[in-house]
Amino acid sequence: MNEKAFQICINPDCRATYSLDEVVFRCKQCNALLDVAYDWDRLAVPTSLSFFEHRWGTRGLKAEGGLDFSGVWRFRELMPFVPADSIVTIGEGRTLLEQNNALARQLGMKPGRLFLQYEGLNPSGSFKDNGMTAAFSLAHRLGRQRVACASTGNTSASVAMFAHKSDPPMQGIVFIGSGKIAYGKLSQALDYGALTLQIEGDFDACLRRVIEVADKLGIYLMNSLNPFRLEGQKAIMYRVLEARDWEVPDWIIVPGGNLGNCSAFGKAFRELFDLGLIKRIPRLAIINATGANTLYQLVEGEKLRWEGGRYDASCIDRLYGDMDRDHILPHTIASAIEIARPVNLPKALRALDVMKGLVRQVTDEEILEHKALVGQYGFGCEPASAATVAGLRKLLSEQIISPDEDVVCILTGHELKDPDATVKYHTGIDMKAVEPPPPVPPTGRGANPPKQVADDLDAICAALGETLPEEA
Ligand code: F0G
Repeated sequence: MNEKAFQICINPDCRATYSLDEVVFRCKQCNALLDVAYDWDRLAVPTSLSFFEHRWGTRGLKAEGGLDFSGVWRFRELMPFVPADSIVTIGEGRTLLEQNNALARQLGMKPGRLFLQYEGLNPSGSFKDNGMTAAFSLAHRLGRQRVACASTGNTSASVAMFAHKSDPPMQGIVFIGSGKIAYGKLSQALDYGALTLQIEGDFDACLRRVIEVADKLGIYLMNSLNPFRLEGQKAIMYRVLEARDWEVPDWIIVPGGNLGNCSAFGKAFRELFDLGLIKRIPRLAIINATGANTLYQLVEGEKLRWEGGRYDASCIDRLYGDMDRDHILPHTIASAIEIARPVNLPKALRALDVMKGLVRQVTDEEILEHKALVGQYGFGCEPASAATVAGLRKLLSEQIISPDEDVVCILTGHELKDPDATVKYHTGIDMKAVEPPPPVPPTGRGANPPKQVADDLDAICAALGETLPEEA
C-alpha cells in the first residue's frame, strides 16, 4: 500500500490492506475487523504533545477553517486520514476533565487523584460525537448521501444530528430496538429528523440488520464497526492528557458496551507510545453491567486473551452458542450498554493487552448508587457512565487500584439522556410502568414519528421506500 493512510485487517495472519475510499467494514479475505493505519514516517507528526497547546490560541471559528474549534480536529495530525476541506465538524469534543475531590473522598481515595471526563458535554450529549465527526468526514469525502446505524440511543442521536448538520445534509436512518431506548435519546433522533425504524428485537438484532441493509442498499454504516469512528474517539484520550498537562494517568476506566471506546483508547495509547509522544501507557479497566457481561465472562471467566491477534475464537462461539440455546438476552438499567455480542470484541482484547487491562462487572444497584454519587458530587451522568465509578470502588476494594493512583473515569453520556432512571431512583416512580394512554396521531407539521417494523429484511426495505435489488 503506497498511501500514507489506509485500512488494514487486524488479523496478523492476513493484514490485507484497503484504500480509504473502499467501503468495507470487515476484511474481504478473512472477515476480521479493520483498522485505519498510517505510514507515520511520511507524515508530519509533532515531536511533542505540547505542540497542540498553540491551538488554544486559534480555537475561534475563523482560524484554521474552524478546525481548532473542535476538540477532535485540533489533534488532526494524530488522525490524518481526511483532507481538511472534507471535515464535517460541529464543535464536538469541547468537553472537560474535572478533578473531583469530594467523590474521591467518598470512595476513600486521596484528594487530587480522581478525575471525571464529562463526555456528556458534547453537542448531542454523549461521547459518540467524537467518532461521528470522523466517520461523517469520510462519508462526506466519499459523497455518501445516506447513513445508517443501529443504536441503544446515543449513536442514533449523534448520527441524526451530524446528518442534518452536514453540508449538503445527509439522510440519517436509525434502527432502534423496541422498548429499549431511553426517551431522552429517542427524542433527539426524532427531533433531528432521522428516519427512525423501531425494530422488533434488541440492539444485537438491530445491528445485524443494519449491517445487512446498509450493504444491500448502499447506505453508509455509522456503527463502531466503522473504523473511522474509532479514530475520532481517540481524541477523548488526547483531551484527558491535555487537561493533565500531558501527564499520563495510572488508570482509565470506561464502560463496555459494543467495545468501540475502549478499542479506540488502546489504539490511541499504542500510537502515542510508538511515536515517542508518551513514555508509559496507563492501565485500562472496562466495566460491564452484570446483565450484559460478555466481555467479563470471556476475559475474567474463560481467560480469553489477544495472543498477538491469534485469540481463541472458539471460546466466543461457545459462549454465543450457549446464549442462543438458553435464550439469554442482555438486561440492564444501563440501556446504553445492554449488548450481548459486542462487535469490537477482538479490538477490545487488543486494547486490554496494550493497556494491561482488566474487566469487571457491576450490578444495576451498584450502577444506580454510583450514578447518584456522581450527581451529588459532580455534574451527573447517565447510568452506563456511572458503571465506571462503581467499577472503581470495586477495584479499590480489591486493592488493584490504590487510593493514591491517578484514575480517570470516562462519563460517556449526559445525565438528562435518561431522566426516567434518575426519577425512579429518587422517587420510586417508574415512568415506564405507567400505563400510557392510547396513542393519538401526532398533529405537529414537523412531526417525525418512529416507524414500527418487524425484524425482517423485506419489511425494513419497504419502510425505507425501497425494494431489494435482485441478487446478481
Ligand atoms: N456509554 C454510553 C452512554 C453509551 O451510549 C455507550 C454505547 C457506551 C457507554 C458503550 O460504549 O459501545 O463503545 O463500548 N452506546 C451505543 C449506542 C451502543 O448505540 O448509542 P461502547
